[in-house]
Amino acid sequence: MAVHFVAETADVPEGGHMVVQVEGREIGIYRINGEYYALNNYCPHQGAPMCAGYVSGTNLPSEVYEYEYARKGEIIRCPWHGWEFDIKTGKSLFSDRVRVKTYEVRIEDGRIGVVFGR
Ligand code: FES
Repeated sequence: MAVHFVAETADVPEGGHMVVQVEGREIGIYRINGEYYALNNYCPHQGAPMCAGYVSGTNLPSEVYEYEYARKGEIIRCPWHGWEFDIKTGKSLFSDRVRVKTYEVRIEDGRIGVVFGR
């Protein structure tokens, strides 16, 4: 297991993200409600640069004609074909079996570390 420190916490504004390079991989670092998440910049469908996707929320399951918009800032939509994923877990919104790779994040002394390994 290796921790790669890639940025300072102040480099990623609340609700924003930055893309970093770590050992040949591109990883998006997202900040949501003060927490940091690391998402591979690669869509599992056809390889689009996931982190170029629009970040939004989603409508929760509901009754007909009822709409409950929630999870604002936690959902990313792939820029090529619109598949949607949970930034926090990498899971797609349509299947537990389709996901973007995520990485554990460690914060130490104001630095953001991405954990590889295991
Ligand atoms: S490449 Fe991402 S949905 Fe197709």
